[in-house]
Amino acid sequence: MRRLKLAPSILDADFTRLGQQINDIECNGAEYLHADVMDGHFVPNISFGSPIITSLRPITNLMIDVHLMVENPKQYVSDFASAGADIINFHLEACEPGPVIKAIKAEGKKAGLTIKPATSVDEVYPFIDDLDLILVMSVEPGFGGQKLIPDCLRKAHVLADYIEKNGLETEIEMDGGIGLSNVREVIQSGVNVVVAGSAIFGIADSKAAVCAFMDIFKTYGIK
Ligand code: DX5
Ligand code: ZN
Repeated sequence: MRRLKLAPSILDADFTRLGQQINDIECNGAEYLHADVMDGHFVPNISFGSPIITSLRPITNLMIDVHLMVENPKQYVSDFASAGADIINFHLEACEPGPVIKAIKAEGKKAGLTIKPATSVDEVYPFIDDLDLILVMSVEPGFGGQKLIPDCLRKAHVLADYIEKNGLETEIEMDGGIGLSNVREVIQSGVNVVVAGSAIFGIADSKAAVCAFMDIFKTYGIK
């Protein structure tokens, strides 16, 4: 099994004390910092843009994992790369992926292709050799605090089999509705990067939540 990584999503963070909250999750074992960018078009909500990444970059060594829920993602690649993103995830449903992957690679960043719950994993295979990561959405993008759609676990399984059979190193990330009660099923489906928003920042003791995720990860013999 590949190394498990926790990617807390700051969508649910308290922005008045974001620096402290990030420090807390970093000290307790998170590896990625998941930043949900929403444009009000690709998804109904608007969240934040690259200035937030610019502010966070100097205060954390976490891998900044930007999840672009925007139309025309290519237009924003260089902004987010310059702001300090390490991974740029964009939606297959929003564009023609090839040129976006090229643009991300040209910036020296890791490229992630994201699929919505209704999109088949077959659609990522033509691009998989150039991808560092595939983000399988387990809720409809746009809102935190939703319930995980179980069929997405089956999709992760299929993808994990494909990756193994083809000797690839592509990471599988899952995002939406993941908490302490269902994270084991997520891991068993072949996911190695676990996004959690409300399960970490939606509760009073975010530190304890991160530790509880890490304790579960340890039971898989990793970390
Ligand atoms: C939803 C976002 C998620 C969200 C996850 O569109 O992509 O990253 O923050 O939140 P939870 O873990 O609460 O489902
Ligand atoms: Zn996300």
